[in-house]
Amino acid sequence: MKIVNRIDELRRLLTEEKTNGKTIGFVPTMGYLHAGHLSLIHAARKENEIVVISIFVNPLQFGPNEDFDQYPRDIERDEALAREAGADYLFYPTVAEMYGEQPMVTVKVHQRTDSLCGKSRPGHFDGVATVLTKLFNIVGPTRAYFGLKDAQQVAVVEGLIQDFNFPIKLVGVEIKREEDGLALSSRNVNLTADERAEAVHISKALFKIKEAIDNGVTPEAAIAEGRGYLQGHITGTIDYLEGLSYPELKPITSVSAKMIVAAAVQYSKVRLIDNVIISNE
Ligand code: PAJ
Repeated sequence: MKIVNRIDELRRLLTEEKTNGKTIGFVPTMGYLHAGHLSLIHAARKENEIVVISIFVNPLQFGPNEDFDQYPRDIERDEALAREAGADYLFYPTVAEMYGEQPMVTVKVHQRTDSLCGKSRPGHFDGVATVLTKLFNIVGPTRAYFGLKDAQQVAVVEGLIQDFNFPIKLVGVEIKREEDGLALSSRNVNLTADERAEAVHISKALFKIKEAIDNGVTPEAAIAEGRGYLQGHITGTIDYLEGLSYPELKPITSVSAKMIVAAAVQYSKVRLIDNVIISNE
């Protein structure tokens, strides 16, 4: 695995690979890799000749009072994990390399962001779309891999690829969970022991809601019941627990073929998110 810090160098290396007819699978991350990230690398490894992973904690997608400084980082461990998972290139740029002094142009997302994390974290998805536009232009992948843990991000990236005509196939990958059901997240290390123990109830509540809806309970009733369960079992603050159509993220109608029930819970130092997607087809 080759580690590259410079944009021009990565572009040169990948242009050569593409000239040789190689397909490129791309896995963008913010590092502190866990089995969720590794499942994206494995999926990319299966479907492409070359696998590129990026590690960049993107300041543009963090709000002023969010955890940019506390975001966990361990590049040496990440290097070993990415190599072991089969990545060919690890792109690890500095903030100065990516953004220089002051960006002249950024991307603004107009749909699919007025709910869930888009509503709670104003500007977050503009930051995600801006960095991904840059990364897609630098890497020029055949396929890009994203986890459904961040289902709203997948919905936004689908719009970005479509509207900006990136010739990239978006691949969504299932959520990887701890044995007790907690969705893996780099941020889980910033939970206290008590918070970690009770966080299991976030996925439990979502699974209960999915089961109820699958059994014919209305989404409203199932979500109300799930909210009661969650409130009774956690000390964290529920930021949202909401059901919407997916990927449009509009209010559910009787014709919504696919819906998402998503939750965000704020703990002392960490905000956790999780979701279930329910298909009524
Ligand atoms: P990050 O949170 O590091 O996540 C990188 C990728 O890993 C995302 O596509 C995310 O959905 C996926 N992922 C995280 N936890 C997962 C889990 N438990 N199961 C499956 N996939 C999981 O998402 C970002 O970084 C950034 O917003 C980024 C896209 C890199 C732009 O800065």
